Amino acid sequence: MKCRVIAVLGTRPEAIKLALVIQELRRRSDEFEIAVIHTGQHRTMLDSALKLFKIKPDFDLDVMRPNQTLSSLTARVLDTVENACSRFQPHMVLVQGDTTTAFASALAAYYCKIAVGHIEAGLRSRDIYNPFPEEANRRLVSVMTEIHFAPTALSRDNLLAEGVPSEKIVVTGNTVVDTLRALGEVPHSWEHTALEGIPQNHGRLVLVTSHRRESWGTDQEHMCLALKDLVTKHHDIRIVYPVHMNPNVRSTVNALLQDTERIHLTEPLDYITFVSLLRHSFLVLTDSGGIQEEAPTFGKPVLVLRKVTERPEASQFGMAKIIGMSREAIVREADRLLTDTDAYQDMSEGENPYGDGHSSERIVEAVARWSQTKTPLLEADKEFKLPPRVHPRRRRSDFSQNAAKAATAGKE
Ligand code: UD1
Ligand code: UDP
Repeated sequence: MKCRVIAVLGTRPEAIKLALVIQELRRRSDEFEIAVIHTGQHRTMLDSALKLFKIKPDFDLDVMRPNQTLSSLTARVLDTVENACSRFQPHMVLVQGDTTTAFASALAAYYCKIAVGHIEAGLRSRDIYNPFPEEANRRLVSVMTEIHFAPTALSRDNLLAEGVPSEKIVVTGNTVVDTLRALGEVPHSWEHTALEGIPQNHGRLVLVTSHRRESWGTDQEHMCLALKDLVTKHHDIRIVYPVHMNPNVRSTVNALLQDTERIHLTEPLDYITFVSLLRHSFLVLTDSGGIQEEAPTFGKPVLVLRKVTERPEASQFGMAKIIGMSREAIVREADRLLTDTDAYQDMSEGENPYGDGHSSERIVEAVARWSQTKTPLLEADKEFKLPPRVHPRRRRSDFSQNAAKAATAGKE
């Protein structure tokens, strides 16, 4: 009998990170029967990714409402995903990450007593209000999960520290690196995109994104003022800021930054265009989870606009720095990278610590073995290991020490 799997997505990062998993499940169609649920938590921001990766949802639940509340969104996802599960009768529901779609879908599957496979499991900031509500969402999913697909050794250690049995954890790498590799090196023209007219090679491009709930209001305002300070101070830079569709983000950003010289506010970009912008950027300022994981592939230093991150690997290896949202810190840290060549060079070397492009294969292989009650879920030598040359000046032993410290902190 084939293993029946539902993959649930609803937001932009879920579509991008599940694309290759869905492709791999489809490739192994002699073993799997698959249905894709699109909750519709995002109505437009992920359409281009679905098109790009030729994903046609089998269930479109259309839950998005303008300026939706977390509670009403959760209730709609819970109800509609349960209904889809009872129609498709899967053996496993795969969810990705920490969104309301992931949490409420896992809960719906659990209520139906269907096994949950959690992709990108075990990331922890240890502060349930940063990121909000994602830290709690991700932890709540863990409680209901049958297989934990931890992207890195650190995320595995976080789960072990919480008492998750090691035989239920597979270290896979992050699927976003698979997606980036699948795009390849194809040059992409900015003509007829939201970037049309922005010079690619004259001056330095600073890429900015920010959308987290915990930053709405004052923090977001300070960040906007810092961006104005930076263009005033550095005449050779242009800031490109694709603005998230959340109205709470748009109102502040548009009010403070519209019509500012050398600050380009754009609509959300389709994935290929966004990755092209990332390649052409000198520096990245972001609170996005996915962009923190993507930038190291292109050697782009990241200043993380958050108080804490659940993805500390890049900062542990010196490719990113967590700087918070104060105006002073943003100006100071960006200033340093724009003026100090050694500091810049130091942050732009090394391989991506989040994945090697084979995460989706590992996930699907583990689901296949689980469905055949084979153990282990994946042989240890097939799991994702940190690349040997993560950073020229930071050896793997440094990482192990940091990971051990993080795991210990979790037990305290
Ligand atoms: C959501 C996720 C967040 C993730 C982010 C990725 C939750 C609680 N939050 O945040 O973890 O990092 O997506 O982008 O799951 N909107 C549109 N069109 C769209 C998408 C959004 O108009 O295609 C507007 C709507 O008014 C919507 C609002 O944005 O009500 C908020 O969307 P929502 O998914 O609730 O939160 P995000 O801030 O997008
Ligand atoms: N992204 C995109 N277009 C944009 C901004 C981001 O395609 O205009 C991609 C980005 O490459 C990454 C993902 O969207 O893969 C991140 O989404 P987001 O920042 O919305 O969510 P998070 O990762 O913080 O949950």
